[in-house]
Amino acid sequence: MIELQKVNKSFGEKQVLFDVDAVFHKGKTNLVIGASGGGKSVMLKCMVGLVTPESGKILYDNRDFLQLDYQDVRAIRREIGMLFQGTALFDSLNVEDNVGFPLRMFSPMSEEERRERVNFCLKRVNLENSNNKYPSELSGGMKKRVGIARAIALDIKYLFCDEPNSGLDPITSRVIDDLLHDITHEFNITTIINSHDMKTVYDIGENIIFMHQGRAFWEGSKEEIAVARKELPELDHFIHASFIE
Ligand SMILES: Nc1ncnc2c1ncn2[C@@H]1O[C@H](COP(=O)(O)OP(=O)(O)OP(=O)(O)O)[C@@H](O)[C@H]1O
Ligand SMILES: [Mg+2]
Repeated sequence: MIELQKVNKSFGEKQVLFDVDAVFHKGKTNLVIGASGGGKSVMLKCMVGLVTPESGKILYDNRDFLQLDYQDVRAIRREIGMLFQGTALFDSLNVEDNVGFPLRMFSPMSEEERRERVNFCLKRVNLENSNNKYPSELSGGMKKRVGIARAIALDIKYLFCDEPNSGLDPITSRVIDDLLHDITHEFNITTIINSHDMKTVYDIGENIIFMHQGRAFWEGSKEEIAVARKELPELDHFIHASFIE
């Protein structure tokens, strides 16, 4: 479980996160939704340490990420998998070396152990026998799956995905959604997915956090959204604008 308490972040004069409180549950797909510019990516960057908030707490199973020393932060980083907007694969490395990269960086595995783990992860995302292909030879959906295999290469506890469906067609988007959902449950991961795709919310959302103008405006289950939107015009407007009724 990850808990944010009163997290504030500004860039210069501009405040983009305001006293953000949110809970991301273990073994669940936690979906962060909201209009563009609402602070979803900045919140996620704060959580993984790419940007530092001015105040607040970020608790990884009660370990305060912002107060830990270098060694303890590094230990948490090893427990984190990330799937970036776009694919962020290394173009000059083949699939096997892309997936094996975090293992090379962070684990003492032998070459053979590493290959076994890479093959396990590739099998899990239904990409067997693609080890020697280069990113330029893969479709968008395949690249995402390599990204997921790389994200789970280390034995992770937390998985962060920023717009995992961006640039994918609707059918491939569902494949990626299902994969993220299934992996979350199989490995009991705390998964955080930024999305503005309401279809993703209705398909795989288990805990929903609605960000609006830098605030965690509402949090609940997808079953509760139907009621909540009647009372919150901001949430209603967002759902309406997503054209799924
Ligand atoms: N490095 C930065 N420097 C200055 N402002 C920034 C920086 N990063 C983000 N912002 C601002 O913070 C606000 C929130 O941006 P953020 O990227 O978190 O939105 P988002 O909810 O992820 O939007 P989208 O759905 O388009 O991805 C925006 O106004 C953005 O311009
Ligand atoms: Mg974003």
